[in-house]
Amino acid sequence: MSRKILVTSALPYANGSIHLGHLVEYIQTDIWVRFQKMQGNTVHYVCADDTHGTPIMLRAEKEGITPEALIAKVHTEHYADFSEFLVEFDNYYSTNSPENKELASAIYKALKANGKISTKTIEQFYDPVKNMFLPDRFIKGECPKCHAKDQYGDSCEVCGATYNPTELINPFSAVSGAAPVRKETEHYFFKLSECTDFLRSWTRSGTLQQEAANKMNEWIGEAGENKLSDWDISRDAPYFGFEIPDAPGKYFYVWLDAPIGYMASFKNLCAKNGLDFDEYWKADSKTELYHFIGKDILYFHALFWPATLEYSGYRKPTQVFSHGFLTVNGEKMSKSRGTFITARSYLDHIKNPEYLRYYYAAKLNGSMEDIDLNLEDFVARVNSDLVGKYINIASRTAGFINKRFAGKLVSACKHDVVETIKASAPEIAKAYEARDYSRALREIMRLADLANADVADAAPWVVAKQEGMAAEAKLHADCSSALEMFRLLTLYLKPALPDLAGNIERFLNISPLTWSSVNDSFADGHAINEYNHLITRIDPKHIEAMTEANKETLQHSPETVSKTQADLANASDYISIDDFTKVDLRIAKIVNAEHVEGAEKLLRLSLDIGESNPRQVFAGIKSAYDPATLVGRLTLMVANLAPRKMKFGMSEGMVLAASDEHGGPFILSPDAGAQPGMRVK
Ligand code: MSP
Ligand code: ZN
Repeated sequence: MSRKILVTSALPYANGSIHLGHLVEYIQTDIWVRFQKMQGNTVHYVCADDTHGTPIMLRAEKEGITPEALIAKVHTEHYADFSEFLVEFDNYYSTNSPENKELASAIYKALKANGKISTKTIEQFYDPVKNMFLPDRFIKGECPKCHAKDQYGDSCEVCGATYNPTELINPFSAVSGAAPVRKETEHYFFKLSECTDFLRSWTRSGTLQQEAANKMNEWIGEAGENKLSDWDISRDAPYFGFEIPDAPGKYFYVWLDAPIGYMASFKNLCAKNGLDFDEYWKADSKTELYHFIGKDILYFHALFWPATLEYSGYRKPTQVFSHGFLTVNGEKMSKSRGTFITARSYLDHIKNPEYLRYYYAAKLNGSMEDIDLNLEDFVARVNSDLVGKYINIASRTAGFINKRFAGKLVSACKHDVVETIKASAPEIAKAYEARDYSRALREIMRLADLANADVADAAPWVVAKQEGMAAEAKLHADCSSALEMFRLLTLYLKPALPDLAGNIERFLNISPLTWSSVNDSFADGHAINEYNHLITRIDPKHIEAMTEANKETLQHSPETVSKTQADLANASDYISIDDFTKVDLRIAKIVNAEHVEGAEKLLRLSLDIGESNPRQVFAGIKSAYDPATLVGRLTLMVANLAPRKMKFGMSEGMVLAASDEHGGPFILSPDAGAQPGMRVK
């Protein structure tokens, strides 16, 4: 019987590009969805951009556009990236939609009616310059444990300690640079602490992978314990999101409306396709609901989300599938090593998205382990499996059919290897269903080896040179069987390689393969089309070019201000005095200056602007200054640029310097009397 299945991937944030790490998830999901569709099940695959929250609001401000304009631009980019990687959503929507607003409000009201909402006054860090409450990520300061400078408000990247932002030493706002003040505000909470019994049974009822269920047990605690605290679901204005009904100036925290975005995207699809929303979302729904996510967002999907659904009267997910994180060459993706690779950059350099789909599939086994993209192994694997084993079967036999038999196949009599390949169908289907694509592909490649050995035994290139009717018939039968094996392997690989499979269906002149096509075979006299080259080997040179192109360059870094003619022409004519006063210009004393190993253009400066610790700034002035001559002099710096992580460390501001094509850079000096820290205005 055909199943009705709704599938989601996590909604990517609308403030960054899709990279190869994200693609692990979307490719994993897409393969599963395509497999289910080939099985004849009714499947809807929905996703959306996750558009709300402080980072998106601030990024839009920085780019000088509205959040709506930013998310529209990113939506177009994300959608193009996914499409080119053959990730085929049935709907790709946005959390900033009318459907989502309506659903989020209704769910909130239902939770409230169920007594699951409370309010509490809490104290939070507030930026007195920017007039906003600061999320932990936007507060920085000295680590209370190891005293490393410039650490985020929730954890230290140097010693790994976690703490409250209020424990940071000399905290500052990453938005304005100002020292934050503590301020009271009323927040809305979802009473998660009252959902313990429900969550304990939900997380133990086969909805999670074992590893995930264990994690949840740790978080929830044993019966009698109550380790869950209430969940803070509100944020104060200014915030880009949905205002909470009857609570002016209070907004839903982005993670409240983000998963509701799954429902909203589906609702939008229902309106377009005449589907029944309630059939999929009512508490007693008979349909299946699966969320594919990364292990970093398990907490949201296995605790907050099912509890939200339970207490607002909706169905819960059938299962949540978590995957691990991508490493490249065994390490975290890194901008300095050039392994922080965007989807776009891969497409520009490697072009064929199916190589990556194949490689990820070969690595994914349905567990929460991290997966490694080893770039050398990637080249070797794709070239040997796809080109050397799989395509080889057709490339060695199709030509004879085309040239010697007018493209017509002979219906093969029972052939051992063909039967063996057919017999594996249930096993391969089971592996796909369990998201153990690595097992599926191992089996498929084992079968490809058998097929190749069979072709080698038959040696059509030898038989083709022999004369007589018997040789002719043998050549015809052997090449026809080879293409039958090729057809079956194509069917098995189709969830991972949909475009290639499409090209092969056209070459074989057959209708789109589904899982039940296993039982078909070519009719006697079936005519195929001419064999054209189907796939090429990856050239390792392209891999090298890609990592080179992704190495973080210093060219666009803001160490020096150098206005080119083009910049000037594009700048709008006037700014207001308010625009100007946003720039916090300070007199800075250069207390230290030194060369930076490995940097061609930069000097590392320590700048005293009257704060307790000097600022570290990287300035692109190496070509014009000997560091020794700089120490002790005064200059001018921008003190409220957001700190920027560079290859060589954090840069906490910008030194101003003049230059044009004839000379420079020349840094500036104040008249005598100016003191470090004085504001320039
Ligand atoms: N916006 C949230 C999800 C909201 S879902 C209601 C979010 N967005 S994200 O852009 O940061 O990540 C989207 C998905 O990509 C997540 O499932 C995340 O785990 C996954 N990945 C992001 N980086 C990844 C790797 N480096 N490796 C594997 N998956 C990664 O989280
Ligand atoms: Zn520390």
